Amino acid sequence: MAGRKKSPIMPAVSSITREKGMSVSASGYLRIGATDVDAWMDFGTGVLGLMDAGREDAAGARFLRMDDHPFRLMIEPAEADGLIATGLEFPDEVAFLRTCDAVAEAGHTVAPGSAEETARRCVTAFATTTDPSGNTLELYWGRTLDYRPLISPQGVPGFVTTYQQTGDLGFGHLVLPAADFDATTAFYTQIIGMGITDILYPPGMAGAKIHFMHANNPRQHSLALFNSQHPLGVVHIMVEVETMDEVGRAMDRARSAGSHFLATLGRHVNDNMCSVYLLAPGGIAVEYGYDGLLIDWENHVTTVSIEGDLWGHEYSFPGVND
Ligand SMILES: [Fe+2]
Repeated sequence: MAGRKKSPIMPAVSSITREKGMSVSASGYLRIGATDVDAWMDFGTGVLGLMDAGREDAAGARFLRMDDHPFRLMIEPAEADGLIATGLEFPDEVAFLRTCDAVAEAGHTVAPGSAEETARRCVTAFATTTDPSGNTLELYWGRTLDYRPLISPQGVPGFVTTYQQTGDLGFGHLVLPAADFDATTAFYTQIIGMGITDILYPPGMAGAKIHFMHANNPRQHSLALFNSQHPLGVVHIMVEVETMDEVGRAMDRARSAGSHFLATLGRHVNDNMCSVYLLAPGGIAVEYGYDGLLIDWENHVTTVSIEGDLWGHEYSFPGVND
């Protein structure tokens, strides 16, 4: 078998890195660019029920909390709306440094964050890189937590971001555009240390394919790749609450605020998420759901679906269906 070309997708590698505790822990935070930061904050606090962290920022960013992390969403003034970067959390310094080395060895630029930018993210260290499809990532470790109680302005009791008290599930999940699909999948599975949970061929979208990937936590997927481009740099992000009533209350708030419902209530086949999709100011789709699956990866087998939903999730794109 000498000289045989290796498959670009080697799930066994991510299994090995997971065993050594070297793989990515979670999708920890998002940096979102907004042409109207105040409108995004009104949506984040008034509709999603997130807490304004009340942090000062020299560049005028605002910060939204979901738990004891100092922020999960950073909303930054920008000329164009869209995702700026995804923060990927590593369990410790060793895992962080080894991953940075592996990313650099694979030929990607890895830029260490300055002291000022590190403090802004409330992390011990971070480095910026891009995946093969051009998505900007910030690899980090050692977050400084905020122990002030989470007080949702809408009375949301809590967001699903932890397990067994201390394990980090991350902020939720996100779907990134990946026009260079195979190389980008290999980047996350072989270098970052994710595993492919399941594969979806969305019905009615010829040629479309999604890889749902898990980090080293039980959330069914922390990051997914869609084999296309997207003008906002992200297909959607997901925020999870604890009960159906909290989803329903958010739906009421969204209606009162005049938010666009991108999809009706529905339940996904893969992560079991019962959710609606709303459009944030500027156009990023935000899935708001509950009941997401937590998985023991020890015995997991990657599955393939040709249906995305058990029921519901009827899509309504602004300017197309209305
Ligand atoms: Fe989702």
